[in-house]
Amino acid sequence: MVKLQTHQGHLQVAGCDVPELAAKYGTPFYLVNQNLIEDRCKEIHADFLAKYPGSRAAYASKAFLCLEMCRIIAQQGLGLDVVSGGELFTAVQAGFPMERVIFHGNNKTDQEIAMAVDHQVGRVVVDNMYELERLQAEAGRQDRKMDILFRITPGVDSHTHKFISTGQLDSKFGIPTDPEHLRDYMDKVMTMTNLRLLGFHFHVGSQLHANDSHLKAVEILAGIIQRVKEEHGFITEELNVGGGYGIYYTDEDEPEPLSYFTDGIMETLHKECASRGLNVPAVTIEPGRWVIGEAGMTIYTIGSIKEVPGIRTYAAVDGGMPDNPRPSLYDAKYDAVIANKMDAPRDAVATIAGKCCESGDILIWDLPVPQLAPGDTLAVRSTGAYNFAMASNYNRLPRPGVVMVKNGLDRLVVRPQSYQDMLSTEI
Ligand code: LLP
Repeated sequence: MVKLQTHQGHLQVAGCDVPELAAKYGTPFYLVNQNLIEDRCKEIHADFLAKYPGSRAAYASKAFLCLEMCRIIAQQGLGLDVVSGGELFTAVQAGFPMERVIFHGNNKTDQEIAMAVDHQVGRVVVDNMYELERLQAEAGRQDRKMDILFRITPGVDSHTHKFISTGQLDSKFGIPTDPEHLRDYMDKVMTMTNLRLLGFHFHVGSQLHANDSHLKAVEILAGIIQRVKEEHGFITEELNVGGGYGIYYTDEDEPEPLSYFTDGIMETLHKECASRGLNVPAVTIEPGRWVIGEAGMTIYTIGSIKEVPGIRTYAAVDGGMPDNPRPSLYDAKYDAVIANKMDAPRDAVATIAGKCCESGDILIWDLPVPQLAPGDTLAVRSTGAYNFAMASNYNRLPRPGVVMVKNGLDRLVVRPQSYQDMLSTEI
């Protein structure tokens, strides 16, 4: 958990005064602490990459992506997981090294496949037979050789919200582990001269606080690595174990350090490979939320405050479900503070409502707060992941901009949408 810094009753992030930023930029906006992103990247280097030579880490850009984020991730020496032409395009525009890009997706379009081949991305993670055949055809057409992994559905149930659990058998993602299925893929890929299979990928779920699903999946994958060696003489060089490492949102979360997951994964993999007489493949991790989640906050201004006598007090903000759909989508819980009243006792309770025409547009139920007044600055914590990335224009609310802070300096890296921007594609 990141400890909040304050100065004279004001919330400080990376040495910047949050109420002053609110006055300077106007609310709402996403505030992103670059120092924290870099700390997380350093932790990946120290506790995973340096410890396990040959391993790699790619940031899952679906969590939060903009040109500046690509530049930061490139500069931190990590790879990038993209899942669409739009994410790939952003990486290309930012000058991200394409050999470090991993291209995912369960239904890549022809245009996306052509783009991946054209830019010669580092890895394409192939999800299904339809994609495999079209990727081979496109690579042939462009006379390229593409490195690929097969995405495997390990059949492991992770203990998280069912909408963000992805590794279970009944899933739209990946190739099932049963021998006949995989045999077809292996037979096929061995004949494909423009594709080079390097290994396998799995992703079990997101916002996990326990490593048991990852470890179970590693055991299952070790069985597959052994089977493809025996049946096809195929030596697995790489295993991509996805992301999913949980973060702090509220006091209900007790996140583990990254090494709890990565050491557990590596230990299990080494043990499984040793007992089966296999070479240990190089491991890639793909954390998204863990890199960016706690680095982000959303800064709002409190507007109308409504007391329903004997029931509750609603404090409404100048944003809501369009900038953070997670409470209404996943029942996600958030904590927030009043950035201009950090020293005041939290002796009142308010439910933080958005401004949308929808009663479900509630960001936080029954939040302990100091005495509130319109104009107060609300900072919702841990909104770095899957907020900006999942934002919409519902009710025609323009998307907020992104302010990046580092070492006491602030800069706008994504400007807020204007009303005109929202009409820019309309005919
Ligand atoms: N790799 C793959 C193949 C993935 O599908 C995902 C996330 C990740 C890596 C990164 O997972 P992370 O480290 O961020 O947990 N919108 C949902 C989360 C969906 C995650 C989908 N896949 C949410 O707001 O909670």
